[in-house]
Amino acid sequence: MSKKKILLYGFGTVGKGFYQIYQDKQSSEFELIGIIVKNLAKHSPVEVPIYQYGTEQEKSLFSQADIIIECTSNYTEGKDIVLSALENGKTVISASKKVLAENLNLILDTKEKHNAKLFYEAAAAASIPIFKVLNYHFSHENVRYFKGILNGTSNFILTKMETEGLSYGKALIQAQQLGYAEADPFSDVSGWDTAYKLVLLTFSASGTILNSHDLFIEGIENITFQDIYLAKNNGLRIKLLAHADLEKNIFFVCPAFVNNELANIDEAWNAIQIEYEYAKSQFYTGRGAGREATGSAIWGDLNLSQSLEKISQKPVSLIDTAEYHGYWFIRLHSPLETDLLYWNTAEVLTHNKIQNYYVVYAPLSRLKELKNKVKNAQIIQISDENTLKVFTKQTVSYSFQF
Ligand SMILES: NC(=O)c1ccc[n+]([C@@H]2O[C@H](COP(=O)([O-])OP(=O)(O)OC[C@H]3O[C@@H](n4cnc5c(N)ncnc54)[C@H](OP(=O)(O)O)[C@@H]3O)[C@@H](O)[C@H]2O)c1
Repeated sequence: MSKKKILLYGFGTVGKGFYQIYQDKQSSEFELIGIIVKNLAKHSPVEVPIYQYGTEQEKSLFSQADIIIECTSNYTEGKDIVLSALENGKTVISASKKVLAENLNLILDTKEKHNAKLFYEAAAAASIPIFKVLNYHFSHENVRYFKGILNGTSNFILTKMETEGLSYGKALIQAQQLGYAEADPFSDVSGWDTAYKLVLLTFSASGTILNSHDLFIEGIENITFQDIYLAKNNGLRIKLLAHADLEKNIFFVCPAFVNNELANIDEAWNAIQIEYEYAKSQFYTGRGAGREATGSAIWGDLNLSQSLEKISQKPVSLIDTAEYHGYWFIRLHSPLETDLLYWNTAEVLTHNKIQNYYVVYAPLSRLKELKNKVKNAQIIQISDENTLKVFTKQTVSYSFQF
C-alpha cells in the first residue's frame, strides 16, 4: 500500500509537536513530503525538505499531497491554505481556531462541495478529544449546556498570580516561553481565543454556527491581585470560562468565580463540563496547549482520517443569541463617569466604595455598553447563590441558570 502524502504548513509550536511524533512513530502509513514556512531563513534543515510559502516548490508539493496539515499563525494565508486544500478534495487537519471559527460556514460548504474531509481536534482543548466525543460518540445526544476553561495561557496566568504571586506580565512571559501563548497574546487574554473555541464546540454540540462578533467577550487583562485575593479569601478561584446554554441560546465568554470542579484546573490545563440529555454530566480535562498536546491531537486526527468515510455532523443552523440576565462583579480601575447613575436602581445589589466594585444584576447587552464606556473595567461572573452571598453579605434566594 502506498503511503499517504502529508504536507505540513507551519513549523512553530504545533508544527514541531507534530513533527516530533512523526519522527518517533516511523509510520508505514504516512509520508511527510515537506514542511512549508513563512520565513525560510529562520529554520535549520531537518530530515524533511523545508520550503517557503508561495514558492514553486510549495505549489508542486501541494499538488502531490493527499493530506494538508495547517498550523500557521497567519490568519489570511491560513484561510487560503485550508480553502484551497478543501477545493482540491484533500483531507485537511487544521489547528487554527480563528480561521475555522470565523469562516465556518464557508469552510463547511467548500468541504461538502468537494467531498473533502476536515478535522480540527488541536484547535480547542488540544489533548482532550472533545470534537471526537461530540461528533462521533455523542452525535445522537442533545447537549444542554457546557462550560469550559479553554485557554491555557489565561489559566496559566491566573494560576501563577494566585499561587506564586507573579505579576500578570511575568506570568505571561512564562506562558510564552513554554509555548502556551499565541504569537500575539491579545487573543488569549482578551477572551477571543476562548470565543473561537466556543464557536467550534457549539457547532459540534448542536450544529449551530455562532458569529463570534455577536458574543459578549470579556478577558482577564484587568484582573488584579485584589480580585484574586478577594476570591481566595472567600474560598473561590477566578477562571476564564466559555459559557454555552444550548437550550436557551445563551453564549458568552467571561471570567467567573468558581468553587466547583473547574476551580481545580491549574496552569495550561483545560477542562470542559458538559450536560447531555441522556448521558447527563461529564467532565473532561487535559493539557490545552503546547507542543506535545497539539502534536498528539493532530496525529489522532490523522489516524481517524484514514478510518472514517463519512463524518457525522448535526444539521447546520444559524441563530441569534439570546439575552441573558446574570449577576456580575464589576471592578472599576477608574471612576465610572456617571458612577451609580449609570445603573438602574434595581441593577445594583451592592457597591463597595473602598474597593471600587459593584455587584449588579444586569443583561449582557448592558455589560457590552459598559465595556464600550469604561475600557479597563473588569467583569467577573457570579454564577451561583453562595458566591452572590459572599459579595452581598446577605441571605439571598435567586435562581441561577449557569
Ligand atoms: N500553541 C498552541 O498551543 C496552540 C494550540 C492550539 C492551536 N494553536 C493554533 O495553531 C496555529 C499555530 O500555532 P503555533 O503556536 O504553532 O504558532 P507559532 O509557534 O507562532 O508558529 C507559526 C508557524 O506558522 C508559520 N507560518 C506563518 N505563515 C505561514 C504560511 N503562509 N505558510 C506556512 N507557514 C506559515 C510560521 O513560519 P516561520 O516559522 O517561518 O515564521 C511558523 O512556523 C495557530 O493558528 C494557533 O492558533 C496553537
